[in-house]
Amino acid sequence: MVVLGIESSCDETGVALVEASGSAVPALLAHALHSQVEMHQAYGGVVPELASRDHIRRVLPLAQQVLAQARRGLAEVDVVAYTRGPGLAGALLVGAGVACALGVALGKPVLGVHHLEGHLLSPFLSQDPPQFPFVALLVSGGHTQLMQVDRVGHYTLLGETIDDAAGEAFDKSAKLLGLGYPGGPALSRLAESGDPVSFRLPRPLLHSGDLDFSFAGLKTAVMTQAKKLGDQLEARKADLAAATEAAIVDVLVRKSLTALERTGLQRIVVAGGVGANRHLREQLDAACAKRGVRVHYPELSLCTDNGAMIAMAAAMRMQAGVQQARADYAFDVKPRWPLDALAA
Ligand code: KG4
Ligand code: ZN
Repeated sequence: MVVLGIESSCDETGVALVEASGSAVPALLAHALHSQVEMHQAYGGVVPELASRDHIRRVLPLAQQVLAQARRGLAEVDVVAYTRGPGLAGALLVGAGVACALGVALGKPVLGVHHLEGHLLSPFLSQDPPQFPFVALLVSGGHTQLMQVDRVGHYTLLGETIDDAAGEAFDKSAKLLGLGYPGGPALSRLAESGDPVSFRLPRPLLHSGDLDFSFAGLKTAVMTQAKKLGDQLEARKADLAAATEAAIVDVLVRKSLTALERTGLQRIVVAGGVGANRHLREQLDAACAKRGVRVHYPELSLCTDNGAMIAMAAAMRMQAGVQQARADYAFDVKPRWPLDALAA
């Protein structure tokens, strides 16, 4: 079964082809991505209307590209999968509309995927896929959640952010430091040359006793420090970036360890854009190695949004028998859609 996956929930257009046979982990045949980062940079963030229009321009050429790469024809596609939510409504509608149009034209069924489930299952695209059950740390631009994943479609929310997401904390702090958009990778690069203990920044909810997160206060603390520094900010920017990164990573690692202790699980999967952060990987790897816990990440190139994770999630849901592709082409999108509300 060949699945064509389309991702268009935010500022990347991703298309991929995945093949599933029997109960084996589905294989990635090809994937292609167009990032809109350059287009949105001038505005300091994602402009939803521009995002939708650009998805329209990119999605079909990307589909042709992955088919050529995989040496497959459109007629060989068995199912067309798309991101149904959460995300920007207009952007989601492009992927859903194109997927359904392709489905109708090819006479093939379609399947709407939860974007976060895509991230969650993306480590299955790696050379060393995890085994169920595991704890998942989902850290993207809009979400920060710890989930217990028992099997495909069975997700229990253990804790989540009560305000900003970890990616948002990276992005907003980066903006305060004049690093532009998207801030996460830029702040992380600058942090390499800074001293993480040069500033004392808060670790919100670290000792709250639950698995929830709060990052809004951190952004305010960064702003206060930046104001205090005044003229000296430029010279101390790398230190402040390093201290910010350390505070975010510290909380993410400690709460992940608590989630592992509480669930008694010995495996953790890290997914979402912030999962690309080198510091987070190093800290989590070191802490988990001490406890004999296995850590799984998606390939670095598949940490941020992509079509491969959407095709993969669709293939795995069908394999597990929790969802079938449909040919009524009555699509909707869900800009807000909690992952644990996903019907198994
Ligand atoms: O999963 P993703 O691509 O999109 C969403 O679904 O939100 O995540 C994007 C987020 C952004 O906040 C970006 O700044 C952050 O991931 N990010 C990083 C790094 N790479 C991406 N944050 C810290 N360090 C990185 N290396
Ligand atoms: Zn994402």
